[in-house]
Amino acid sequence: MASSRLLLFAMQLLVLVAAVGGTRWQDFLRLPSESASASEDDDAAAVGTRWAVLIAGSNGYYNYRHQADVCHAYQIMKKGGLKDENIIVFMYDDIADSPDNPRPGVIINHPDGGDVYAGVPKDYTGKDVNVNNFLAVLLGNKSAVTGGGSGKVVASGPGDHVFVYYSDHGGPGVLGMPSDDYLYAKDLVDALKKKHAAGGYRSLVFYLEACESGSIFQGLLPSDISVYATTAANAEESSWGTYCPGDDPGPPPEFDTCLGDLYSVAWMEDSDAHDRRAESLRQQYETVKDRTSAHGTYSLGSHVMEYGDVQGLAAQSLYTFMGTDPANDDNATVISLFGRGQQQRRRGPAVNQRDADLVYFWQRYRRAAEGTPEKAEARRRLLQVMSRRSRVDSSMELIGGLLFGSEEGPRVLGAVRPAGQPLADDWDCLKYMVRAYERHCGPLAQYGMKHMRAFANICNAGVGEDAMAKVASQACAAVARSD
Ligand SMILES: *[C@@H]1O[C@H](CO)[C@@H](O)[C@H](O)[C@H]1NC(C)=O
Ligand SMILES: *[C@@H]1O[C@H](CO)[C@@H](O)[C@H](O)[C@H]1NC(C)=O
Repeated sequence: MASSRLLLFAMQLLVLVAAVGGTRWQDFLRLPSESASASEDDDAAAVGTRWAVLIAGSNGYYNYRHQADVCHAYQIMKKGGLKDENIIVFMYDDIADSPDNPRPGVIINHPDGGDVYAGVPKDYTGKDVNVNNFLAVLLGNKSAVTGGGSGKVVASGPGDHVFVYYSDHGGPGVLGMPSDDYLYAKDLVDALKKKHAAGGYRSLVFYLEACESGSIFQGLLPSDISVYATTAANAEESSWGTYCPGDDPGPPPEFDTCLGDLYSVAWMEDSDAHDRRAESLRQQYETVKDRTSAHGTYSLGSHVMEYGDVQGLAAQSLYTFMGTDPANDDNATVISLFGRGQQQRRRGPAVNQRDADLVYFWQRYRRAAEGTPEKAEARRRLLQVMSRRSRVDSSMELIGGLLFGSEEGPRVLGAVRPAGQPLADDWDCLKYMVRAYERHCGPLAQYGMKHMRAFANICNAGVGEDAMAKVASQACAAVARSD
């Protein structure tokens, strides 16, 4: 693709981003009858220990928001009364001290927000943020942990409550990790089943921010293992960054990057503001769903979903999992009116997660002074990111054509299974299809994860690994030649 066309596309994207700004807050009511009974939950929580696993699955300054989300989540758990020995944090830890960070040593998750980085335990950082360690920590298997992390694991028992929060890029059936392989949905759900079978918790809540995050639990998470999960998006759509350049409110002017993700800041700002003894998981789900859907318009937002033991757990209070900040004891406000007069609560959503890196590279390009080496370098990086994307897209299109014919290819690769069915029947097949592709074509990386459904459909259609390897090598050689 000609570079001028790529730049034009980037400009159109940014014009779209900048045009978003209307205020469409709806007033809504939180009825007293819906609030969980505080005393009942006090009892439930008194039985066990609260544990939290918080993980940001990305790295790179342009992914600032995921680690900012996770640091903020730590502050919530900490203020809620959880002990550091019970909070396990995974983050690459390349943001606070990045040369790109305009506030060295500090991370913020809101335009006017204070530092959320201070005090965050560095349990697993850098290459230790990987699938093996995440699952070992979740399962409480200390001997399976590798690398130089703190070795903290969720050593929980049958009376305990576990909260897991994951913020990252994803794709159908997978979540990203900064190192090694992706986390596949089947492996995550199998780990939850295993922990349940081992008596590892009384109840477990999983909050998940990622593109297509519904696909991680849809058709896979049983309703009888005391796990309640909510996801930022359904199985077919991206989730959204927020407080992005061009957004209203946007980040402080010196930031070229999004400060948070929409679903994530929605649950965290709600948790920050209330007495969590008086708010149920269901109430938070409704609040977060409203904000993340851009108030039911879904214009620049996504469908927050819930999975698992909704019936058994949604009425539990947030307090059972997150504790509560004593400073909010007087704010059990049951009626919350986000009126039009509240100017600080304007629309958040502006950039879907998958395009947030383009916004960053575009900002760098736009800001650099004309005719400088910085300008040329920023232009080169922007074009490189865009041409990588178009290479991945073209190679997948070609692979579909080679396997199923140019008419049928797009239909087979893009087919979406009915709700309630998992993405793939054979998850091992999905893994080796992805590996066969990456061997010949290079990493899918964070943008390419969007094609996971196509790989799953190739498996579902019964294509073998050898056939896949052969067409991947042909397709990617052809795409490389056309560059
Ligand atoms: C813990 O991990 C080790 C090493 O991977 C494994 O051999 C062992 O079976 C695991 N223990 C449990 C209880 O799953
Ligand atoms: C109390 O709750 C209301 C309603 O949700 C919220 O707008 C307000 O910011 C909260 N107050 C504090 C001090 O957090």
